[in-house]
Amino acid sequence: MNDMKPFLNTAYALKTTEDSIALYRDWAKTYDKDFAEAYDYRNPELIAAIFADRADDDMPVLDVGAGTGLVGQALASHGLGPIDALDITPEMLDVAMGKGCYRAAIHGDLTKRLGIEDATYGGVICVGTFTHGHVGPEAIDELIRVARPGALFTLGVNAELYESAGFAAKFAEVAGQIRDFEIVEHCGYGPNASPERQAARTDVAVFRKR
Ligand SMILES: C[S@@+](CC[C@H](N)C(=O)[O-])C[C@H]1O[C@@H](n2cnc3c(N)ncnc32)[C@H](O)[C@@H]1O
Repeated sequence: MNDMKPFLNTAYALKTTEDSIALYRDWAKTYDKDFAEAYDYRNPELIAAIFADRADDDMPVLDVGAGTGLVGQALASHGLGPIDALDITPEMLDVAMGKGCYRAAIHGDLTKRLGIEDATYGGVICVGTFTHGHVGPEAIDELIRVARPGALFTLGVNAELYESAGFAAKFAEVAGQIRDFEIVEHCGYGPNASPERQAARTDVAVFRKR
C-alpha cells in the first residue's frame, strides 16, 4: 500500500492550465505504472463499465481529459468506439495514441471553446478531470454542444467538489438540455489503495442530451 499524498498534493494544487500541462508533461511516461497501477486506480474501468452498460454500439465517443488512454482501453475492451481522445497535454495524448484504441487525438482546452463541430459525438466520458486543481463545471456547456441529440454522458466528478465547485448548480442550469439524469456514487480505487483513497468518492453524472 502506498501513500498517495505527493501525487495528489501536487495534482490537486494545480492553479492554471499551464500548471496542468507542465505537470502532466512530466508524468506522461510514468502515470500508468507509478500512479494508476501503484495506487490501484480503478475509475477508468469503473466509469467505462457504467458507460458500456447504457451505450449503443458503433457510436463515436469523446474521451475528455483522456490522459494516457486508460479510459479508451477500457471502452475498447467493451467493444465500443470509435473513440477520440481530448486532452490539453500533448505528451499524455502521445501515450494514449500509442495504446492503439483511439481514432484521433484532439488537443484542446476544456476551459475554452473546443475545435469540434456541434453534434459530433454519440457519447461523452470524462474520468479524473473534474477534480481539485483541474477543470470546473464551465466545461459542461461545450461537452453538451459537441454531443448529438440522445448522446450518452458519464462524467466523473470528485464528490468533494460536486456541490462546492458548482457542479450541482450547473446540472440544474442545463436541466432543459438533458434527460434521464442520475448520479452514481462510488469509490474509484481498489483494495490496494490507502484507506484515505478508499474513503474518497466519485459522483458519476449519467445523463443523455435531449
Ligand atoms: C488525472 S488525469 C486523468 C486522465 C485519465 N482520464 C484517467 O482517468 O487516467 C487529468 C487529465 O486532464 C488533463 N487536463 C487538465 N486540464 C485540462 C484542460 N483544461 N483541458 C483539457 N484537458 C485537461 C490533463 O492533461 C490530464 O491528462
